[in-house]
Amino acid sequence: MTITECSTVVAQVEVSKDMRLGDSFMPMHWSDAFASLARVGTLIPTKVDPISAQPELKNSAIVVQPLPIKSVGRILVHPDWLAPALVQLRQLTEFTSDQSQAEVSVPNLIWSISRQQDSILINLATSTEQMSDAWLTVEFWQQFVESVVNIHQRSNSDSLDKPDKSHSPDRSDSELAELDTSIMIYEAAQQLRYVVRQPAAIELASSSAQLEEQLMLALYIAPQSEQLPSIHWLNSCFADLSDAPSVKWLLAGKPASGYVDPGPLVCACMGVGENTIINAITSEECDDAISVGKLCQAGTNCGSCVGQINELIKQCRSDKTVELA
Ligand code: FES
Repeated sequence: MTITECSTVVAQVEVSKDMRLGDSFMPMHWSDAFASLARVGTLIPTKVDPISAQPELKNSAIVVQPLPIKSVGRILVHPDWLAPALVQLRQLTEFTSDQSQAEVSVPNLIWSISRQQDSILINLATSTEQMSDAWLTVEFWQQFVESVVNIHQRSNSDSLDKPDKSHSPDRSDSELAELDTSIMIYEAAQQLRYVVRQPAAIELASSSAQLEEQLMLALYIAPQSEQLPSIHWLNSCFADLSDAPSVKWLLAGKPASGYVDPGPLVCACMGVGENTIINAITSEECDDAISVGKLCQAGTNCGSCVGQINELIKQCRSDKTVELA
């Protein structure tokens, strides 16, 4: 949580030795469109330079303090459902005083969104007991999905300029009835998993239509973020569900076996993740970015990720040295 005398922002923080002691950095693009309380511009005092009228973007004193989190969540949602899901998240978000900082208001539902290749990722967190209990219930997410479908249905019929009866309750009810919902709750571990699929008509070359399923939403709640599944494979399931013949895998958040999680994206040009690069470095003993590129294509286009690849090579070398010592 970041506080100035002007405002408060709630954001996930990464502590890095690469930053100068006492400095902090947050991209200026964070706004209400992407998160529940992350308008970084509000932290900057309204004083401006008398000549250029620029605000003091790089010279604002802030206080960074931890916000105790009760539980976290991760939702991957189909792009068609993003707007209604955001409407619903905003409706559920209330601002309450944080006990440790009576004068600071924080959202009961902390969320931020980021676009993935085939879906939208919504990260969730809550610092309140009430929300932490509520979102471990099936009813909470059933209501959430119902509202999302209703809003989606309404906006579709509005954009198509159809008569009012097209968004009648009956129509939303039939769309809801078509949804294939799977739920898993581990009460003892305080975890919930919830997957929604919907039939989708796929056009075939023969012009006949075949009904297949489309993943619309996959959500996971747990006390700690390490207990949530990685998003890479799940994200790919929004484009193609053939890798998930059983819903059990979607609920688990990973396929049965033989899958190597590519890890966080390092090379955006070639779509190569950190684990894939580490694998190239360690198993093939690559000792420079060129040989890594030859193996997995990372760093072979614009080159802006080469610094990160070199860092990974350095890190793997020092891990090896520690192992040998
Ligand atoms: S980001 Fe890796 S080559 Fe461009």
